[in-house]
Amino acid sequence: MRTVGCIGCGNMGGAILGGLADALGGKGYAFCGHTRTPERMAPLAEKGVTAVSGALSLAQCADVIVLAVKPHHIAAVVEEILPALGRDKLLISIAAGISLKRLREVSRNLCPVVRCMPNTPALAGKGVFAVCLEDEALRRENRDEVLALFGVLGLCLPLPEERFTAFSALIGAGPAYVFAMMQGMVQAGVTLGFPCREARRLVVALFDGSAALAGERPEHLAQLREAVCSPGGLTIAGINVLDRAGLAGLLVEAVLAADARGREMEE
Ligand SMILES: NC(=O)c1ccc[n+]([C@@H]2O[C@H](COP(=O)([O-])OP(=O)(O)OC[C@H]3O[C@@H](n4cnc5c(N)ncnc54)[C@H](OP(=O)(O)O)[C@@H]3O)[C@@H](O)[C@H]2O)c1
Repeated sequence: MRTVGCIGCGNMGGAILGGLADALGGKGYAFCGHTRTPERMAPLAEKGVTAVSGALSLAQCADVIVLAVKPHHIAAVVEEILPALGRDKLLISIAAGISLKRLREVSRNLCPVVRCMPNTPALAGKGVFAVCLEDEALRRENRDEVLALFGVLGLCLPLPEERFTAFSALIGAGPAYVFAMMQGMVQAGVTLGFPCREARRLVVALFDGSAALAGERPEHLAQLREAVCSPGGLTIAGINVLDRAGLAGLLVEAVLAADARGREMEE
């Protein structure tokens, strides 16, 4: 039996721990969590997660330790759990902007470390996770376990750390672009007389269904788009407006601006 423990069970830590407990609880894994406000553990306890008081106690009983506190708390939390760290532990940080080098420094090279970057759909069990598996202290079974754990929570992609900013600009920030597009579509629906709640339900189902179709069909996205546009029909009239406004170019510019800002922030 392996134990996965999470320190900081807020939005992201709670979603990761809850998702893992739902999928893997009783299947060779046990789960525990420690967070500053103990009441936050109640919904996780219902999923079979054991609440542990104290970061050090958690680190002593967990084989895999997920750090899901805010980035400015990472150094203090790792300092607290140092006595429990060793080669047999695996430390995974999801803190934005905390590099692998920094993680190795604060953990004094006592155990293998992994840097992970989730996006907010992880809160709904459909996240995209980048994991940096470049720490030389990682063993093959550590790498396999990280991919298996995050793989049950959504899409998990091993990525060199130098690609993390690009990943953040495209996928970390991605939900904001998608929600902006959804908001525009809901506004259009309201303009056409749909009540706002109904327009929102319709638009959410539209994005969900379109994503499912794009995920399962091998055609180029342009072909899927073309398939909706009958000659002389209403869809092509709408698409012509988007093409004139340069929607695709705008999206490229948005992602490149986010990437540039991300690199600026790293300096
Ligand atoms: N949310 C995102 O979209 C996102 C995306 C990528 C990465 N991340 C990363 O995920 C991490 C968590 O973010 P979040 O949005 O989940 O924040 P959050 O909801 O504020 O969760 C952080 C949790 O850590 C707890 N905490 C603080 N200090 C602690 C300590 N010393 N020991 C134990 N628990 C402690 C907090 O307790 P209290 O409830 O008492 O304050 C809170 O529940 C951050 O490092 C962030 O960079 C988040």
